[in-house]
Amino acid sequence: MKSLQVDELGSLDALHLVELPDEPLKEGFLRCSIRACGLNFVDSLLIEGRYQVKPPVPFRPGSEIAAVVTEVGPGVSNFSVGDRIFVAIGVGGFSDTAVVHASRALKIPDNMTDGQAATFMQSYLTAWFAFEHRADLREGDTMLVLGAGGGIGLAAIDVAVSMGVRVIGAASSDEKRQLAKDAGAFATIDVLNEDLKLRARELAEGKLDAVYDPVGGDLAEQALRALAPGGQFMVVGFVAGIPKLPANLVLLTNRTLIGVDWGAWVGKNQAAHAEMIATVMKNIGEGKLHPVEPVSYPMSRAVDALRDMQNRKIAGKVALVPDFN
Ligand SMILES: NC(=O)c1ccc[n+]([C@@H]2O[C@H](COP(=O)([O-])OP(=O)(O)OC[C@H]3O[C@@H](n4cnc5c(N)ncnc54)[C@H](OP(=O)(O)O)[C@@H]3O)[C@@H](O)[C@H]2O)c1
Repeated sequence: MKSLQVDELGSLDALHLVELPDEPLKEGFLRCSIRACGLNFVDSLLIEGRYQVKPPVPFRPGSEIAAVVTEVGPGVSNFSVGDRIFVAIGVGGFSDTAVVHASRALKIPDNMTDGQAATFMQSYLTAWFAFEHRADLREGDTMLVLGAGGGIGLAAIDVAVSMGVRVIGAASSDEKRQLAKDAGAFATIDVLNEDLKLRARELAEGKLDAVYDPVGGDLAEQALRALAPGGQFMVVGFVAGIPKLPANLVLLTNRTLIGVDWGAWVGKNQAAHAEMIATVMKNIGEGKLHPVEPVSYPMSRAVDALRDMQNRKIAGKVALVPDFN
């Protein structure tokens, strides 16, 4: 099998192709041909050694895949050769093939493309976890989503809208704002040319109940200031840097700061997480949630895709498609 790997953490340029021996297929396992692997912002942080958790090296990135079963191991009765499967593989998704335990695979619903299946998990599960286990969102609430045209933001809009929440999406380009609207945002804010605090307050008619923030940086404080009394601010990510938020803004009007660490929760709740993935997938299969069709990059150009993501050039999600000779 062919795979992309870094031997030490530090630079995206260190990502290189390796050829690894095919693993024998043990009882309970499936061999599959990877059709697409989802790319996430966190992949770049992991490769560069800038993530809070440092993976062991050599490190093969790629956490979520869509694949086709090519061989079924002994003792597996619920999958056949040719089945399209999704696997939260964790590591090693930037590869052409994989061997996975059958208990970790889910059949992809017919209405879901390989690209959608390879890119929904991290973003949708973060939103689902945030709204189900951390924040208290109610039907009719108004929520501001930052980075609304990125992967984490778009999924949050889709999940929130399915719960009856009214969403305002903030993003930097027309293309990203259009994606946010397509996902269900009733209004958008141009973060480069508009005053985020004033515009969010205006659009929410003074009742901004929640903020979902995967961006951080300078926008975080503006968004916190826009929150109505008693509002909830979900801290989700820091693509623009870790903000230092004044504590008085939280105290004065009984606002709540909520940490959202999906990864930490997954580590301690594997069974509940597997159930959550199946629930989200079922909702997608029933047409209740609608992941975007990702932009595709050949897997051999993974570094370009990672750089484009870091440079805010990607609207929506990215899927890497194996193209190794
Ligand atoms: N808390 C959790 O459990 C959890 C789980 C998964 C991911 N995350 C985090 O969520 C964050 C977003 O991930 P993602 O996959 O949605 O990334 P993404 O698809 O690249 O979207 C991030 C968005 O942030 C905006 N942005 C603003 N300033 C930026 C900057 N300096 N550099 C890059 N982007 C900037 C961009 O939108 P504009 O151009 O419109 O501003 C971009 O679309 C990451 O930090 C990731 O680690 C957290």
